[in-house]
Amino acid sequence: MSASHVLARLQFVQTKQESHMAQSIRDDDSVSNTSGNTSLTELVDRAIAQNPKRRLLLKSGLGMAAIPFLGGLAACGGGDDVVAPTPAPTPAPPVAPVEQMLGFKAVATSSGSEIVVPEGYIASAFAPWGSPINDLAPAWKGDATGTAAEQEQQVGDNHDGMAFFGFNAAGNGFGDRSDEGLLVMNHEYINPEYFYAPEIDATDWMAPFTFEKARKALAAHGISVLHVKRAADGSWEHVKSSPYNRRIHGNTPITIQGPAAGHPLMKTAADPSGTVALGTLNNCGNGRTPWGTYLTCEENFNGYFGWNGTRTATALENRYGISANGFGYRWHTVDSRFDVNATPNEPNRHGYIVEVDPFAPGSQATKRTALGRFKHENAALEVTPSGKVAVYMGCDERNEYVYKFVADGTFDAANPTSAANRSLLGKGTLYVARFGAGTTVGDNMGTGTWIPLKPDTVGVNSVALRDNPNFAAATDAEVLANIMIKTRQAADAVGATMMDRPEWVAVNPKKAGEVFITLTNNNRRGTTTASVNNPDGSTVAGSARPPVDEANPRANNVWGHIVRWNEAGGDGGTATTFDWDIFVLAGQPAVTGARAPSSNINAETLFNSPDGLDFDAFGRMWIQTDGSFANTGDFAGNGNNQMLVADPKTKEIRRFLVGPDGCEVTGITWSPDRKTMFVNIQHPGEVGSHPKAPAAYLALPSAERDNWIAKNPTAFSQWPTSGVRPRSATVVVRRTDGGVIGG
Ligand code: FEO
Ligand code: CA
Ligand code: CA
Repeated sequence: MSASHVLARLQFVQTKQESHMAQSIRDDDSVSNTSGNTSLTELVDRAIAQNPKRRLLLKSGLGMAAIPFLGGLAACGGGDDVVAPTPAPTPAPPVAPVEQMLGFKAVATSSGSEIVVPEGYIASAFAPWGSPINDLAPAWKGDATGTAAEQEQQVGDNHDGMAFFGFNAAGNGFGDRSDEGLLVMNHEYINPEYFYAPEIDATDWMAPFTFEKARKALAAHGISVLHVKRAADGSWEHVKSSPYNRRIHGNTPITIQGPAAGHPLMKTAADPSGTVALGTLNNCGNGRTPWGTYLTCEENFNGYFGWNGTRTATALENRYGISANGFGYRWHTVDSRFDVNATPNEPNRHGYIVEVDPFAPGSQATKRTALGRFKHENAALEVTPSGKVAVYMGCDERNEYVYKFVADGTFDAANPTSAANRSLLGKGTLYVARFGAGTTVGDNMGTGTWIPLKPDTVGVNSVALRDNPNFAAATDAEVLANIMIKTRQAADAVGATMMDRPEWVAVNPKKAGEVFITLTNNNRRGTTTASVNNPDGSTVAGSARPPVDEANPRANNVWGHIVRWNEAGGDGGTATTFDWDIFVLAGQPAVTGARAPSSNINAETLFNSPDGLDFDAFGRMWIQTDGSFANTGDFAGNGNNQMLVADPKTKEIRRFLVGPDGCEVTGITWSPDRKTMFVNIQHPGEVGSHPKAPAAYLALPSAERDNWIAKNPTAFSQWPTSGVRPRSATVVVRRTDGGVIGG
């Protein structure tokens, strides 16, 4: 199939989906009131309940003309058998719909092949993997034979964190327009079974693995900046002629800034200054700043490294999970940059928060080492009441930590895009969290402490920090650089709390200092003889088996949970302590005892492995999942991965969206008017334990299954384009009545 045919098919499928859903919405509108406002029927019934003598009058013919009077009648007290002559009504001003916290009808779970959204909503796929980044870029090849040079000019793979930045009125910079802006998104990794076209080896579709193949994979990582514009009918288009369209990928030069820049551990033969890295990799969740920049977060960077020949891993490599063959991507076999024997410091240049200015297409992105080096999930930034900038972050691995960065400078609210604001993430204090049990053990709440990671708290004699050749003459700057490169080990040394895989953090925009974090799961909690991350930083990543504790209360936590904290004084810029509680324990409502879920989980709110998390401006908390879609056993009834919405005050949860087969739902952003929501669907077609896995696939030993998928890439999923291998894509969600999403 030609690429132009593929795009035409995609457009056709989207149109078909929208028209189908619009039809079902029209049918439903005749019988339901989806606004959440009180219906005419309900008003009439209330008036009758207050004075039954009105029944005949109200039910027999006032019709629509009676609507403005209903409030008055209902309020006028009893005893009036005779209805007084009525003056001509003054037309009431239109009443704006009252926005509801959960103003939509929940959707059911599903193991289906398409996106499911509530009645009154439409969802259409946008910018799938391989879409040309601009009007000069080549079309994607549906058989996956595209080259690395082509991939560098196309939207990357495995869409993840994402942010919409509206243009200003002039259309030349950061502003608050909702009709046109820059959609910036992460590309986390690749699925080799769908990414590479099979070659001659019957049992290994990736063979022979070449430098060109590694380069193509590198080109599919990083971020895309897409200039997008809303059409008159509410749909969105990619403005392909715009100079703002841009790719930053795994070979793009990126400035290294902050305490670790220029440190000997950051230097390589290709960059003897230790100040310019090539590429950003495993771009997972994201953040955004009020000065109009995007934060992309480097997560599982360790999986790309390996070594040729023999090697004894250093403590630093073990603590970050660097191993001989990584996650099996094979880059180290063809590119010496990823061979730790050849380039031992290259891993130290990855694992950071990277700041990108999407409105300056020629600018170089910056790795902000002051925010630490770990498996960064996302970066939730809050300008706190004292004018400080706090950034909350999780390190996603079993038994890792929760962090907070507080910038040294103060936010200049009068000049949000000032140069001073734009340098705030360059210097500050990094803290790690300790979650204490509080006064009562077993009540799922407690108090916490932020421990600064500084030379005087971590200790200059920490074994982990001494593990470098320059340490004998260490200055505070030298120790601080080590802390920012060996952040996990510094956190081990101060006794931070090991958590059940910290994923996204989100700050409640309606309550200063209230922060939530998803803890996705942990099968190494409380399952055997207890062991913890050694305070000398020598524990191999993910190998500890900590006991249950107050903030991580379940052994073998297969479903995950969400923890909330409130900063002391409501100000994360100044607080060094916080109160915390558990917002929800996911799971099965029929399960009781130590594995029981919390009371806000019922048959209607089943989910597992919360991951993506963000608030809209109204204060709704949106929860996205990356868990088991097996739909059996512990996960019976969960269906595909999904997105739910929570009321942070009442803890009520309602399901909003279900993704297609084998996907993860991750990444969310809104136009400023909240009438468009963008959500990412990552890796549709990941077969795994899906209940609809093809029989021919299941018949094979597990080692042969990816090879089979590579040769039968449309066998399991064809989302979002019928007849084409599955592709990660953004989904544009709108209401058919043009209203605010979720309200
Ligand atoms: Fe990339 Fe922890 O998810
Ligand atoms: Ca407690
Ligand atoms: Ca994630």
